[in-house]
Amino acid sequence: MSVHLENIRKVTTQRLVEMKKRGEKISMLTAYDYTMAKIVDRAGIDVILVGDSASNVMCGNVTTLPITLDQMIFMAKSVMRGVKRALVAVDMPFGSYEGNSREAISSAIRIMKESHADCLKIEGGEEVAESIKRILSAGIPVMGHLGLMPQSINKYGTYAVRAQEDEEAEKLIKDAHLLEEIGCFAIVLEKIPAKLAKRIASELTIPVIGIGAGGGVDGQVLVIHDMLGLNNDFSPRFLRRYANLEEVMDQALKQYSADVKSGSFPNENEQY
Ligand code: KIV
Repeated sequence: MSVHLENIRKVTTQRLVEMKKRGEKISMLTAYDYTMAKIVDRAGIDVILVGDSASNVMCGNVTTLPITLDQMIFMAKSVMRGVKRALVAVDMPFGSYEGNSREAISSAIRIMKESHADCLKIEGGEEVAESIKRILSAGIPVMGHLGLMPQSINKYGTYAVRAQEDEEAEKLIKDAHLLEEIGCFAIVLEKIPAKLAKRIASELTIPVIGIGAGGGVDGQVLVIHDMLGLNNDFSPRFLRRYANLEEVMDQALKQYSADVKSGSFPNENEQY
């Protein structure tokens, strides 16, 4: 689908809830800069996430933990300049909300005021409920994130599928209901069994967006570098690659280098 920008109807948190009611699936992708966000928006993707996965794919860190609030705000501002239709969510980075609800609200307000984003995404359930409540009380919409929470990788020690045991699955179900009760408008479920994700999506009235959580949820999210094949070192089972841009770029760059070295670029029409 391509969007005619003259007749744009902005995606809102309320529209996502209506989409779930109608059984219309929600498409979501990450973007971290103006040019990519513009392309993603024009393609009609419903939600753009300025994810803290930028720590990996943009900054080359091993985990999402090192990315800072300032770095997230810088990227969110760039993304917002490129987007007309999609709802833009920004991840609250590790260390910006867990300590207490005062710290959480001041980080949240900085992101919203400086980037003009539409909403925030926060990893965690009961443990961060007070922070989420405080942010919601300031009128800022929050998307929850449960299951595999990459900011907790040092606790897990592995990126394996979460909630395979009953105890963790029960806590996840409880946390999902809690997030809906306190007022989150949607939840991301990452890398959990498809059956569990489907059950949660059917029990909640808010949209449940999955990544590695099967097809029984209300929408899907992927990291754009992964699905476009810009990051071919990463190949989890849940990832479908829609392009191999690494190969396309490699060929283009080698051709450019060869043309410069042979003197065939620039030619007569490419100069003044
Ligand atoms: O940071 C991110 O890209 C995310 C998605 C994987 C959901 O949180």
